[in-house]
Amino acid sequence: MSLRYQRLYVNIDHVATVRQARRSPEPDPVAAARLCEQAGADGITAHLREDRRHIQDEDIRRLAAAVTTALNFECAATNEMLALAEALRPTAVTLVPERREEVTTEGGLDLERAAPQLRDAIARLQRAGVRTSLFIDADADAVRQAQALGADAIELHTGPYAHAPADPRTLRALADAAALGASLGMAVHAGHGLSVQNVGPVAAIAEIEELNIGHAIVGRAIFVGMVEAVREIRRAMDDAREADRF
Ligand code: PXP
Repeated sequence: MSLRYQRLYVNIDHVATVRQARRSPEPDPVAAARLCEQAGADGITAHLREDRRHIQDEDIRRLAAAVTTALNFECAATNEMLALAEALRPTAVTLVPERREEVTTEGGLDLERAAPQLRDAIARLQRAGVRTSLFIDADADAVRQAQALGADAIELHTGPYAHAPADPRTLRALADAAALGASLGMAVHAGHGLSVQNVGPVAAIAEIEELNIGHAIVGRAIFVGMVEAVREIRRAMDDAREADRF
């Protein structure tokens, strides 16, 4: 018997990265989102960073209007971002840590330090009817803290696994955190650094309902087009879920 269907959310930030390299209208991340949906993506993810290095405010507004599947708005838990989420009411918000000098999100949220801010943010988003996910490291304490803060979902940081896929501890940490998160009643998502080459073992973790994948899809789309790049990842996920017959 194969595992339950796992959703694929495509992060289209780096379509905007290419556009911003020239501050020109093309390539348009909203057009990319449409192609992803056409290719079978279950949702679109976009990260509005404080420094606006790729996605712009107007992109988020246009995505909120154009996306017909589901929009996952990724942002830091700042007043500015929460106000935008309240106004646009995306399907979900994923709260992430953010440092201006980082190239990409480098680790999960520091739940201990940011607890009051995160608790308020989750309550505020839930009042607006927006499901809230916390991006966390695959660590039992972090999973328990996320539940205590009232998160609807957790997104497990797969970066350590992507950097060291041959180290069995990285995959074990994800599997254990996913099982704990699900047993505590939260939806479990995962993402960061996943590609056709490494997605299989993560896709095969039963409790992970949703993967967020961006850079590898946009990079591959340069060579094979967005539709085929999304389909390739989708196939790799489905193959892994079907092959898992315990
Ligand atoms: N999930 C989160 C929380 C992220 O910050 C990112 C990167 O923006 C991703 C998933 C997607 O990572 P990648 O672009 O490496 O697939």
